Amino acid sequence: MANNLVLTLYKHINSPEARLYLSRQLFEEAVHVQFYLTLLDTYLPDPDDRAAAFAAVENIPAIREKAEFCFRWMDSVEKIERLETKEDRRRFLLNLICFAACIEGLFFYGAFAYVYWFRSRGLLHGLATGTNWVFRDESMHMEFAFSVVDTVREEEPELFDDELQRQVTDMLKEAVEAELQFARDLCGEGLPGMNTASMQEYLQCVADQRLRRLGFAPVFGSENPFSFMELQNVQELTNFFERRASAYQVAVEGSVAFDDDF
Ligand SMILES: [Fe+2]
Repeated sequence: MANNLVLTLYKHINSPEARLYLSRQLFEEAVHVQFYLTLLDTYLPDPDDRAAAFAAVENIPAIREKAEFCFRWMDSVEKIERLETKEDRRRFLLNLICFAACIEGLFFYGAFAYVYWFRSRGLLHGLATGTNWVFRDESMHMEFAFSVVDTVREEEPELFDDELQRQVTDMLKEAVEAELQFARDLCGEGLPGMNTASMQEYLQCVADQRLRRLGFAPVFGSENPFSFMELQNVQELTNFFERRASAYQVAVEGSVAFDDDF
């Protein structure tokens, strides 16, 4: 993630204000890594278990497939120094769209669904609370990338031809399939409120949202089956009527004296 940000996106997106945002994004990605590492240390205190978790990208086929998907669509840009030709710019666009729509916008959303599924069962609240901030940041990263795509579309509308639409649609279909492979491993025979079929519907619905945002036709026509994901896009504000707010202090009542014995 951080590599692609620095080695590809920062290199080619050269407007100063966009680079300011990318610097912030890089910092946020580092905080996310730190947060999940801290949780991993807590959930898996045994060093061997932790080593096995880190080796998942080599040992678990569904996770390896997701990594290979990323390399397939994003790798070719790293060696390009300047986007001279239309072909270079198309490759860059595909890299950016893969990063934003498929990784941040789909793989992460799959992961968010598992986290909030746990929360809906009353489990792992610390994970869900931290993930709320990650969710907010990732939604912003994605929106930033999509606004870069909007700018490219304004500057070079001819890049957005049928070929690009076909490539992006194929890419999202592949991403849904890769994430689904992971869901099959995870859900097995099905969990209460979540199974492979509902995960498929959810991922397809998210993929359609990404296609629509990019100005392409949606291809799946699925609805979101997870009610626990419904309000997740809404910014967190404490509603005093529904929940007890703890992030403020009540003024001290009565008189305060500092010479009393405590
Ligand atoms: Fe991100």
